[in-house]
Amino acid sequence: MLALVLGSGAFVLPAVSASAPTPDDRSARAEVSYANDVFPILEKRCIRCHGGMDEGEIRLELSLNMTTYEGLMIGSEYGEVVTPGDPDDSVIIQMIEDGDMPDEGDPVPPEELALLRAWIAEGAQNN
Ligand code: HEC
Repeated sequence: MLALVLGSGAFVLPAVSASAPTPDDRSARAEVSYANDVFPILEKRCIRCHGGMDEGEIRLELSLNMTTYEGLMIGSEYGEVVTPGDPDDSVIIQMIEDGDMPDEGDPVPPEELALLRAWIAEGAQNN
Protein backbone atom coordinates (compact mmCIF):
# COMPACT_ATOMS: atom_id res chain seq x y z
CA MET A 1 0.00 0.00 0.00
CA LEU A 2 1.36 3.37 -0.98
CA ALA A 3 0.53 4.96 2.36
CA LEU A 4 3.18 2.74 3.93
CA VAL A 5 5.78 3.84 1.42
CA LEU A 6 4.84 7.45 2.01
CA GLY A 7 5.11 6.88 5.75
CA SER A 8 8.66 5.60 5.50
CA GLY A 9 9.51 8.44 3.14
CA ALA A 10 8.31 10.98 5.64
CA PHE A 11 10.46 9.23 8.22
CA VAL A 12 13.61 9.23 6.09
CA LEU A 13 13.42 12.87 5.08
CA PRO A 14 14.02 14.54 8.46
CA ALA A 15 17.01 12.27 8.97
CA VAL A 16 18.47 13.49 5.69
CA SER A 17 17.93 17.11 6.67
CA ALA A 18 19.35 16.58 10.14
CA SER A 19 22.58 15.14 8.76
CA ALA A 20 23.02 17.93 6.21
CA PRO A 21 26.23 19.90 6.83
CA THR A 22 24.44 23.26 7.04
CA PRO A 23 21.46 23.06 9.42
CA ASP A 24 20.33 26.52 8.45
CA ASP A 25 17.19 27.90 6.84
CA ARG A 26 16.65 24.96 4.51
CA SER A 27 16.30 22.25 7.14
CA ALA A 28 14.42 24.62 9.41
CA ARG A 29 11.79 25.04 6.73
CA ALA A 30 11.98 21.33 5.90
CA GLU A 31 11.71 22.25 2.25
CA VAL A 32 13.18 20.17 -0.53
CA SER A 33 15.04 22.15 -3.17
CA TYR A 34 14.78 21.46 -6.88
CA ALA A 35 18.28 22.80 -7.54
CA ASN A 36 20.05 21.21 -4.56
CA ASP A 37 18.14 17.96 -4.06
CA VAL A 38 16.06 17.00 -7.09
CA PHE A 39 18.14 18.00 -10.09
CA PRO A 40 21.29 16.16 -8.93
CA ILE A 41 19.26 12.93 -8.69
CA LEU A 42 17.82 13.35 -12.18
CA GLU A 43 21.20 14.36 -13.53
CA LYS A 44 22.87 11.28 -12.13
CA ARG A 45 20.19 8.71 -12.92
CA CYS A 46 17.90 9.94 -15.69
CA ILE A 47 19.28 12.67 -17.93
CA ARG A 48 21.49 10.31 -19.90
CA CYS A 49 18.30 9.15 -21.68
CA HIS A 50 16.06 12.18 -21.08
CA GLY A 51 17.75 15.19 -22.64
CA GLY A 52 21.44 14.50 -22.18
CA MET A 53 24.23 13.04 -24.24
CA ASP A 54 24.43 9.29 -24.76
CA GLU A 55 27.24 7.92 -26.90
CA GLY A 56 27.77 11.26 -28.61
CA GLU A 57 24.13 12.00 -29.41
CA ILE A 58 21.37 13.78 -27.55
CA ARG A 59 18.96 11.17 -26.27
CA LEU A 60 15.40 12.32 -25.58
CA GLU A 61 13.23 9.30 -24.75
CA LEU A 62 9.52 10.13 -25.18
CA SER A 63 10.55 13.81 -25.60
CA LEU A 64 10.98 13.99 -21.83
CA ASN A 65 13.73 16.56 -21.25
CA MET A 66 14.92 16.66 -17.64
CA THR A 67 17.86 18.98 -18.25
CA THR A 68 15.78 21.99 -17.17
CA TYR A 69 12.97 22.57 -14.68
CA GLU A 70 10.74 23.73 -17.53
CA GLY A 71 11.41 20.59 -19.54
CA LEU A 72 10.61 18.37 -16.58
CA MET A 73 7.33 20.21 -15.92
CA ILE A 74 6.27 20.10 -19.59
CA GLY A 75 6.67 16.35 -19.40
CA SER A 76 6.76 13.80 -22.18
CA GLU A 77 4.99 13.53 -25.50
CA TYR A 78 2.13 11.96 -23.49
CA GLY A 79 1.87 14.92 -21.14
CA GLU A 80 2.82 15.80 -17.57
CA VAL A 81 4.97 13.43 -15.55
CA VAL A 82 4.91 15.58 -12.39
CA THR A 83 1.63 16.50 -10.70
CA PRO A 84 2.48 19.29 -8.23
CA GLY A 85 1.20 18.43 -4.75
CA ASP A 86 0.40 14.81 -5.59
CA PRO A 87 3.34 12.40 -5.76
CA ASP A 88 1.06 9.34 -6.05
CA ASP A 89 -0.47 10.82 -9.20
CA SER A 90 2.92 11.68 -10.72
CA VAL A 91 4.02 9.37 -13.53
CA ILE A 92 7.66 9.95 -12.65
CA ILE A 93 7.11 8.53 -9.14
CA GLN A 94 4.91 5.68 -10.35
CA MET A 95 7.54 4.55 -12.85
CA ILE A 96 10.32 4.62 -10.26
CA GLU A 97 8.22 2.73 -7.70
CA ASP A 98 7.15 0.16 -10.29
CA GLY A 99 10.80 -0.41 -11.16
CA ASP A 100 10.28 0.80 -14.74
CA MET A 101 12.74 3.69 -14.40
CA PRO A 102 15.62 4.08 -14.75
CA ASP A 103 15.38 1.87 -17.81
CA GLU A 104 18.97 0.75 -17.17
CA GLY A 105 21.31 1.21 -14.22
CA ASP A 106 20.90 1.16 -10.47
CA PRO A 107 17.41 1.67 -9.03
CA VAL A 108 16.67 4.94 -7.25
CA PRO A 109 17.51 4.42 -3.55
CA PRO A 110 14.72 4.97 -0.99
CA GLU A 111 16.22 8.19 0.40
CA GLU A 112 16.33 9.75 -3.08
CA LEU A 113 12.81 8.59 -3.84
CA ALA A 114 11.71 10.20 -0.56
CA LEU A 115 13.27 13.50 -1.66
CA LEU A 116 11.50 13.37 -5.03
CA ARG A 117 8.18 12.55 -3.36
CA ALA A 118 8.58 15.35 -0.79
CA TRP A 119 9.51 17.89 -3.46
CA ILE A 120 6.38 17.07 -5.45
CA ALA A 121 4.24 17.05 -2.29
CA GLU A 122 5.55 20.55 -1.49
CA GLY A 123 4.32 21.78 -4.88
CA ALA A 124 7.21 20.88 -7.23
CA GLN A 125 8.56 24.42 -7.18
CA ASN A 126 11.58 25.76 -9.04
CA ASN A 127 13.34 26.39 -5.74
C1 HEC B 1 18.80 3.96 -20.15
C2 HEC B 1 17.84 4.98 -20.53
C3 HEC B 1 16.90 5.56 -19.52
C4 HEC B 1 17.20 6.04 -18.27
C5 HEC B 1 18.54 6.07 -17.55
C6 HEC B 1 15.96 6.56 -17.75
N1 HEC B 1 14.96 6.41 -18.66
FE1 HEC B 1 13.00 7.03 -18.46
N2 HEC B 1 12.55 6.24 -20.26
C7 HEC B 1 13.42 5.56 -21.09
C8 HEC B 1 12.68 5.00 -22.19
C9 HEC B 1 13.30 4.15 -23.31
C10 HEC B 1 11.33 5.36 -22.02
C11 HEC B 1 10.15 5.00 -22.90
C12 HEC B 1 9.82 3.56 -22.83
C13 HEC B 1 9.26 3.16 -21.50
O1 HEC B 1 8.30 3.78 -21.04
O2 HEC B 1 9.80 2.22 -20.89
C14 HEC B 1 11.29 6.14 -20.79
C15 HEC B 1 10.13 6.69 -20.27
C16 HEC B 1 10.06 7.41 -19.09
C17 HEC B 1 8.87 8.01 -18.55
C18 HEC B 1 7.48 7.90 -19.14
C19 HEC B 1 6.95 9.17 -19.72
C20 HEC B 1 5.49 8.99 -20.07
O3 HEC B 1 4.85 10.03 -20.20
O4 HEC B 1 5.02 7.87 -20.20
C21 HEC B 1 9.20 8.61 -17.38
C22 HEC B 1 8.30 9.39 -16.44
C23 HEC B 1 10.60 8.36 -17.18
N3 HEC B 1 11.10 7.65 -18.23
C24 HEC B 1 11.30 8.78 -16.06
C25 HEC B 1 12.62 8.45 -15.81
C26 HEC B 1 13.29 8.76 -14.57
C27 HEC B 1 12.68 9.47 -13.40
C28 HEC B 1 14.56 8.31 -14.69
C29 HEC B 1 15.66 8.35 -13.66
C30 HEC B 1 15.34 7.84 -12.35
C31 HEC B 1 14.68 7.70 -16.01
N4 HEC B 1 13.48 7.81 -16.65
C32 HEC B 1 15.85 7.13 -16.50
C33 HEC B 1 14.79 5.44 -20.90
C34 HEC B 1 15.48 5.80 -19.75
